[in-house]
Amino acid sequence: MMRRCDHSDLETIYTIINDGAQAYKGVIPTDVWKEPYMSKEELRHEIEGGVVFWGYEEGGEIVGVMGIQHIQDVTLIRHAYIYTEKRRQGIGSKLLSYLREQTSRPILIGTWADAIWAIRFYEKHGFRLVTQEEKGRLLKKYWSIPERQIETSVVLADPKWFNNFKWENKTKGY
Ligand SMILES: CC(C)(COP(=O)(O)OP(=O)(O)OC[C@H]1O[C@@H](n2cnc3c(N)ncnc32)[C@H](O)[C@@H]1OP(=O)(O)O)[C@@H](O)C(=O)NCCC(=O)NCCS
Repeated sequence: MMRRCDHSDLETIYTIINDGAQAYKGVIPTDVWKEPYMSKEELRHEIEGGVVFWGYEEGGEIVGVMGIQHIQDVTLIRHAYIYTEKRRQGIGSKLLSYLREQTSRPILIGTWADAIWAIRFYEKHGFRLVTQEEKGRLLKKYWSIPERQIETSVVLADPKWFNNFKWENKTKGY
């Protein structure tokens, strides 16, 4: 059901991302929307940069993908997309739970501030939004994205990140 994607899945990942990203059309600011939402070159660049995609298969076909990227002291969940007709059937939850088991580091997720459904999805899984100030710092530290995307995004973190954050600030005397 769940398998690690390889180079032969590139076309499928590309198709699912661009199908899934239609959800953003007319919702996120028009100046950050483009079609295709992610080009094949951008996708290759993400994979070369360390994003490992996992796919959820149904009847031998991948119907949803989610990426994981270990970077510095955290793990990022990247590019979560389920085929439009396969949404809200628990596939995203299965992928997320599976990927969470692959790391003992704090997990961070970035998404568009206007993608309310995605924020709800992650909140349902125990992630919480970090403050505006913290979001800017994290997106600059762990992601390579344009300034406009930083402005229009949010970051969610898991309980481990919040616990570490509180502990670090306590030791700094905040
Ligand atoms: C976000 C996404 C990956 C979740 O995967 P999924 O398989 O649909 O999610 P699940 O079925 O496991 O979980 C569903 C829960 O997510 C939230 N959710 C998902 N889609 C939603 C929607 N359109 N409206 C409101 N809540 C939604 C709800 O909490 C929902 O629970 P509910 O059905 O009990 O209300 C998927 O909907 C998707 O690909 N969306 C478009 C692309 C996107 O936003 N990606 C996130 C990039 S960070």
